[in-house]
Amino acid sequence: MKEDKVLVTGAGGQLGTVLVKALRKLKGTKNVIATDLFVKPEQQDLMLPLDATDIEAVAQLVVEREVTQIYHLAAILSAQGEKQPLKTWNINLKSFFTILEVARRHRLDKVFFPSSIAVFGTKAPKKHTQQDIFLNPTTVYGMSKAAGEHWANYYFIKYGLDVRSLRYPGIIGHQSLPGGGTTDYAVDIYHRAVNNEPFICYLKADTALPMIFMEDAVRATLELMEVPEYQIRTRTSYNLSALSITPAEVVKSIKKWYPSFEVTYKEDFREAIARSWPSSILDTQAREDWGWKPRYLLDDITIEMINELKKKYNLHA
Ligand code: SER
Repeated sequence: MKEDKVLVTGAGGQLGTVLVKALRKLKGTKNVIATDLFVKPEQQDLMLPLDATDIEAVAQLVVEREVTQIYHLAAILSAQGEKQPLKTWNINLKSFFTILEVARRHRLDKVFFPSSIAVFGTKAPKKHTQQDIFLNPTTVYGMSKAAGEHWANYYFIKYGLDVRSLRYPGIIGHQSLPGGGTTDYAVDIYHRAVNNEPFICYLKADTALPMIFMEDAVRATLELMEVPEYQIRTRTSYNLSALSITPAEVVKSIKKWYPSFEVTYKEDFREAIARSWPSSILDTQAREDWGWKPRYLLDDITIEMINELKKKYNLHA
């Protein structure tokens, strides 16, 4: 049987950093081509520079390296996106069109497109938000993801392209830093705690958002991409749920290990973005179609984050 050859865009990002490692373990190092717009000198052995909006460059790499699957992670996230709305729309959509077209023209086996809880807006129910609910995203990032989901579905219906997608909650992981999202606090807060530094939270204490631990997010992605095609019944994007937490709950969990951890709340524009998103989502379809089940709850995440970050920062106390 032919081996899968996987191209990953945005491989230097929060999810990409960890997903590439998992893919290399699964498919073999030589079969995973990690790319990003900018590659740091220390990453040059592991990653190639690639502009995912450049269709010629993407097509050339796909042909040269006989790529069979693309994980298209490159995007500008929600908070960063609000600073440059038109640029965000252009980059997020243009890069996805590039990937879809290259995949169609070169008859690739599969494409992965990350969507987000940001596709939901104020007209969706706040709690236990279902899969097929009205979408009125209020951030340009959310608009680009909602549009991307419809394009994924379109390429499946019109060209039979096997595009698969997840609506990720905020991802909490120790391996990498998030960049420019509304959910970033839930990673940054652990870095502060283990370094015994105070944390200023840009969301209100009681603003609940859906979140997921990195290990669960990576496993969900690989599980979705590995199941037989007939099991995929949602071709826009699957709701993916693990837990729903507020900053106050994260602080309470951290205080079990760092009782004197200090947090002050000073909301900024990200509070309004968070308030426009669901506080929890229902992932019934993902569970039914391909057996999704999260493993990590808040205290499990806190223990993992603290232990791993202490190693990273060389803190043994
Ligand atoms: N984590 C993302 C963000 O905050 C949501 O998908 O932008």
